[in-house]
Amino acid sequence: MAMNRLALEVNQLSYTFSNGTVAIRDISFSVTEGEKLMIIGPNGAGKSTLLLHINGLLRGKGEVKIFGEPITKKNLKKIRTKVGLVFQNPDDQLFMPKVLDDVAFGLFDRVTAREEIEAKVRKILKDLGIEHLAGKSQHQLSLGEKRKVSLATVLVLEPEILVLDEPTSGLDPGSRRWLINYLKETSRTIVVATHDLDLAWEIGQRMIIMDRGEIVARGGREEILGNKDLLEQHNLEIPLLYLLEKIGARS
Ligand SMILES: Nc1ncnc2c1ncn2[C@@H]1O[C@H](COP(=O)(O)OP(=O)(O)O)[C@@H](O)[C@H]1O
Ligand SMILES: [Mg+2]
Repeated sequence: MAMNRLALEVNQLSYTFSNGTVAIRDISFSVTEGEKLMIIGPNGAGKSTLLLHINGLLRGKGEVKIFGEPITKKNLKKIRTKVGLVFQNPDDQLFMPKVLDDVAFGLFDRVTAREEIEAKVRKILKDLGIEHLAGKSQHQLSLGEKRKVSLATVLVLEPEILVLDEPTSGLDPGSRRWLINYLKETSRTIVVATHDLDLAWEIGQRMIIMDRGEIVARGGREEILGNKDLLEQHNLEIPLLYLLEKIGARS
């Protein structure tokens, strides 16, 4: 396997919404294949807007490349087989009448054997503990249930690059733990935008802090998440798990 292949490159990306809000400005970073990057920052920092560029849902000024290939109108479909994005709001993700249809939907394009589709769908529903929701419609679900279904629709496709927007918000502790273990163990490339700095501490290898549309800091896990002053400047807090590990390290 080639070492250090770049999975994602973002070059001088800026995006302004039609109402004039500059959501991201001059963002550049790259992610190596298999690397786990956490994008942290306060509300309104531009994290979600940035993630929407990674699978071409938004197109700003600048360039986004997936495995070396710039995202264009022409290759969107191919790009989306490589990049799986779980939205912050599950209502943006789910559109089929039943949970089962939503989870199976993306597979129809890629897998032809009906039994294989059924097996994959059954497995991911079981992993997330939501088999009992299979026959329900989306409006019969709680927010946390919708979030699990959203995760299932993307994880079932096993995308090479997994992009998750606030993935633990609204999850119960058991589901959160399952997700963290999944993200820890997978060898896939992961990009997560999150407020959950304990999650960032557990799975992140590299951190970017965004604030007001810009990257204001970047570095290794401890360099960023152990820097109280830096975090507080951006409405963030040292993760509890970091502090616990420090105490543990002394005894
Ligand atoms: N559809 C939209 N139209 C106009 N402004 C938006 C829209 N979505 C987000 N914004 C604005 O863009 C900025 C970045 O938002 P967002 O990317 O959602 O931040 P974050 O995910 O870090 O909380 C905020 O100022 C927000 O109010
Ligand atoms: Mg957001």
